[in-house]
Amino acid sequence: PVSTGPRHLVNITSLSQDEFLSLVSKAEQFKRIAKSGDTATIQANHNKLLGKLVALLFSKRSTRTRISTEGAAAHFGAQPMFLGKDDIQLGTNECIEDTTRVISSMTSCIFARVNSHNDIQELCKYSSVPIINALCDKYHPLQAITDILSIKEAFGKTEGLKLAWIGDANNVFNDLCIASLKSGISVSVLVPEGISIDESVVADAQTLVGASNGLLKFEVYNKPTDALKNANVVVTDTWISMGEEGQAAAKLKQFAGYQIDQKMVKEGGVNSDWRFMHCLPRHQEEVADDVFYGSQSIVFEEAENRLYAAMAVIDAFVVNKGNLLQK
Ligand code: CP
Ligand code: NVA
Repeated sequence: PVSTGPRHLVNITSLSQDEFLSLVSKAEQFKRIAKSGDTATIQANHNKLLGKLVALLFSKRSTRTRISTEGAAAHFGAQPMFLGKDDIQLGTNECIEDTTRVISSMTSCIFARVNSHNDIQELCKYSSVPIINALCDKYHPLQAITDILSIKEAFGKTEGLKLAWIGDANNVFNDLCIASLKSGISVSVLVPEGISIDESVVADAQTLVGASNGLLKFEVYNKPTDALKNANVVVTDTWISMGEEGQAAAKLKQFAGYQIDQKMVKEGGVNSDWRFMHCLPRHQEEVADDVFYGSQSIVFEEAENRLYAAMAVIDAFVVNKGNLLQK
């Protein structure tokens, strides 16, 4: 038989709708187990990867992704091994192929936070174990699983809701957009003129909308009044992504006027039952304190949910060897 390599988690687009939704349900289930203190199940999970290693190959900073992936590895009894950019030979003294072949020979999966999507593709090419994209310039699937779980918890459902994304739209937006549509949530985007949405994301979004029998919408706006109308979820991300620090002044100028505050949200006509989300880390320029710390904000529940999303992903891709529909 032809040997097919391990299944990797590159982005949300690469998952079927059922597979994506099953990851969200699994994350919900892990949260219940963790909260219940069900020691028999926790012990059983702890034996699943006992004696194994999980590599965290991070070439960028991280708080949530590092804590949640290390925590999830520990839940399954594996030893997480953090490999920061100054800790290993990669980049300075060794190429990605050799590094990947070596790390994957000793570990059971690699969570990788890299600069370019091309690096994720290279890792997938050379790894003998699952590569889990822990953020690249184009995608952040762990955040998208988390965010749909957080929306499901807040509203008790996802179908029929509207999500308004405001501000810069790159990695976090790209996966959340597709994840939302796969969960029955319409997406409207508010970006300054001149900011374009990734073409492949627009194409995938349009395909999902086309297959929804008129239930879903995907719209891009330049004025708040249209984008926010009846939105249930309002989301943003930093205007200065990691690696863009040199463009900070230009980006602050480009996004001037796009800060989310109570006034913008009210004038935009959001639904009376709405929530604010942000993947964090947050800066005041993209969202004012009155929204970020306001009663509609679920940002800290969202951050905590990263742990359960990471557990779901290890369970599906490592324990269940990429059979995502296995319970
Ligand atoms: N949301 C997120 O990925 O946060 P970190 O960069 O802190 O991991
Ligand atoms: N867009 C942000 C997300 C941080 C979690 C970045 O790439 O820095």
